[in-house]
Amino acid sequence: MKNINIAIDGPAGAGKSTIAKMVSKKLGYIYVDTGALYRTIALYITENNIPDDKIEEALPGADVSLRFIDGTQRVFLGDRDVSGLIRTPEISMAASHTSAIPAVRAYLFGTQQKIAAENNVIMDGRDIGTVVLPNADVKIFLTASAEERANRRYKELAEKPDCPSYQEILDDIIKRDYQDMHRETAPLKQAEDAVLVDTTHLDLEGSADAIIRVITDKIGSAE
Ligand code: DC
Repeated sequence: MKNINIAIDGPAGAGKSTIAKMVSKKLGYIYVDTGALYRTIALYITENNIPDDKIEEALPGADVSLRFIDGTQRVFLGDRDVSGLIRTPEISMAASHTSAIPAVRAYLFGTQQKIAAENNVIMDGRDIGTVVLPNADVKIFLTASAEERANRRYKELAEKPDCPSYQEILDDIIKRDYQDMHRETAPLKQAEDAVLVDTTHLDLEGSADAIIRVITDKIGSAE
């Protein structure tokens, strides 16, 4: 039987990964965070000081892989688990830049399609419903206002030393949205057949429930 593929796209900070993880646990599907793949390429490029015009030829040396350990996705560069290292603001910004490079997208395309062909997946990213899995069984575009996304991020970071200001976080989100939506290759946009879920006024449980409802409407009881 064909595997079920659920695509969730949307801007940074809309809660895609947290919510998709909750939903995938409920459904028993694998959760695939494709942003982690772009971040890992960005880390590889940063660590090796590779200039833009040398990225394409350097990609085969990157050896990026996803592994699922106790059902949780980890990303590897060669044998090194870099799942923690890719979560810095520098790598966020670098990933936004490198993910606009067509050769990088082409390099990661097959990895993403293979996982979806072999498993029931909830895959989140920017172009999953539009480019990577155009025939996904369910497509969701998950968003929230930039101010609410900045607010959530600020609350997450507020306890940490060197926490950026709310305004810095908001500026960063607006800049990343712009870069992700205006690049030439596979820009962030809602697929025509995607269902819009706006979480500005929803908490995590409410957002997960809204997504489960969309899935159930499309494919019947998904469990
Ligand atoms: O979801 P994230 O913030 O971890 O993604 C990091 C960057 O990678 C983000 O700037 C957009 C890019 N990305 C992409 O272009 N396509 C995807 N499918 C996933 C992420």
